[in-house]
Amino acid sequence: MCGIIGYSGTANAVPKMMKGLSLLEYRGYDSVGLAAQVGDEVKLVKCKGRIGVLEEKLRDAPVEGSSCAIGHTRWATHGAPSDVNAHPHRVGGVTLVHNGIIENYKALAGALEAQGVVFASQTDTEVAAALIDACYRRTGDPVAAIRQATAHMRGAYAFGILFDGQKGRIYAVRRGSPLILAKGQDGYYIASDITALLPFTREYHAMDEGEIVCLSGQTATCYDEKGDTFTPVFQKTTLTPEAAQKGGYPHFMLKEIYEQPRAAAGCVSPRVNAAGLPDFSADGVDAAFLSGVRQVHIVACGSAVHAGYLGARFFEDIAGIPASVYIASEYRYHPPLSGEKTLVLVISQSGETADTLAALRYAKEKGLPTLAVVNAVETTIAREADRRVYTYAGPEIAVATTKGYCTQVAALWALAAAAGLANGHADADTARAVVKGLVEDAPAAMKTMLAQRDTFAAAAKGLADHEHVFYIGRGADYALAMEAALKLKEISYVHCEAYAAGELKHGTISLIEPGTPVLVLATDPALFEKTESNLREVRSRGAYVILLCREDAAVTADAADRVIRLPQTSPAATLFAALVAVQCIAYETAVFLGCDVDRPRNLAKSVTVE
Ligand code: M6R
Repeated sequence: MCGIIGYSGTANAVPKMMKGLSLLEYRGYDSVGLAAQVGDEVKLVKCKGRIGVLEEKLRDAPVEGSSCAIGHTRWATHGAPSDVNAHPHRVGGVTLVHNGIIENYKALAGALEAQGVVFASQTDTEVAAALIDACYRRTGDPVAAIRQATAHMRGAYAFGILFDGQKGRIYAVRRGSPLILAKGQDGYYIASDITALLPFTREYHAMDEGEIVCLSGQTATCYDEKGDTFTPVFQKTTLTPEAAQKGGYPHFMLKEIYEQPRAAAGCVSPRVNAAGLPDFSADGVDAAFLSGVRQVHIVACGSAVHAGYLGARFFEDIAGIPASVYIASEYRYHPPLSGEKTLVLVISQSGETADTLAALRYAKEKGLPTLAVVNAVETTIAREADRRVYTYAGPEIAVATTKGYCTQVAALWALAAAAGLANGHADADTARAVVKGLVEDAPAAMKTMLAQRDTFAAAAKGLADHEHVFYIGRGADYALAMEAALKLKEISYVHCEAYAAGELKHGTISLIEPGTPVLVLATDPALFEKTESNLREVRSRGAYVILLCREDAAVTADAADRVIRLPQTSPAATLFAALVAVQCIAYETAVFLGCDVDRPRNLAKSVTVE
């Protein structure tokens, strides 16, 4: 979602803002802006649209001589994308950028309007700026003003703030939305995530809830929630600047699809012991803990919840532990039955998804043990969960997740095997086979599929101009179908639904017309015949059928218009090969239709609002 960057130091601030903003683009945005201190003035440049529009504005009216600035990419929530709603917002002596949502902004705005404040925008952010300005005028002290103003705010926020009269200083505060402080050779930075700062520095401190920071060129002063100062501890990210570059690929999504063989192995290998068995004890998830789990609630959003549907099957099949899956935004409204041995397992690539975080906090309030499967390290979900398993996929820049989802599935599969081993439901051979499947067979199978990109491009052409596309499958294939359908629609805007193969005929089959594409996932030999019957049902009504099945599946010539064969070295090999196929089909469809693959309309990478 929205992105923040700020810099105060000895170098020219505006080029740093532009570079940092371009690295925040991946989060999804519809307007962009910056504010730079120049002498005693604050210069504001902002606009609706992409960074190119901001660049043009700066070409027409350059902002020079600034070494202290804040910048922002906005993903609209309150108020449409427009020049006036873009950040930074300036009210009185306060200029700020904001991530998050101030939920009680209407009440705050009413009180401020009664005092004569007139708002120019429709945003909650301008209200926050006005409130901080009112407090600053009263106290003359930025930190006191921030503390007073935020005490009245409900919701989530990360602010980067310039105060008039505070030359060379940026103030920042966060609650609910992430923000980091970073230390470079030539000054200090703030950012919503480290990716934006990789060209400048790798040393960062993840700000805590309620923490306030004042940074200048030479110093950074941190105040904890109580107002006491403390010395921040900086850590070094292992990410390199290259991690946030396309590395010769036309899109980040394609690069990330190609990274999956290594990512899946890289996620599971560190959790394999000398006996070739899954072992998560270094993650704090040891056999004693796992053997006590009697029930699992898997909670997540979007693709992560799709990974959860597979995860639940793994826990039930391999570990014999009943597992239910919940969409995070619904978890609190229908409190599920749970016992003290219920493990709440949240899944999140970004580690910042607001709905998942809220569900995690709810589970903690209920006293349930929590475990997070997370990719982005040191993020809020990772920090707040009792235990965490990092998926080590590396930074995922494309909005549509690929390697993030892939490693979530791999981690869940290995975790379920570890749980099965711990509670005695699985024997060592079973657990060892799971690990081998994930570390060896699946990466090899994915590579095999990646060598056939032409097949996917050809399949994609058959989908592009249709009103409806369907993915159908049974069992694990149904779970994968959900991810496949989401992938296609989110980046190509082709409407696609996933159906349990047996369910289509209970209503939705009425949408099948001659030529309607139906992609049939049939990777499980035990379910093949039944799925094939469902394939026949749509084929006999004229559907254009693409069948994805194992190499050994007995498919007659008239069964499908196109057959994509998948390696069958192990169940993991087949499943992950199918995953690569559906990702590539979505990718090629989006490219064929000329879509903005990495930054689909209306979407944000990290959904930090509920
Ligand atoms: O960062 P998270 O894994 O918590 O994100 C969850 C969803 O927002 C995310 O998977 C979303 O559905 C992606 N756009 C899917 O490609």
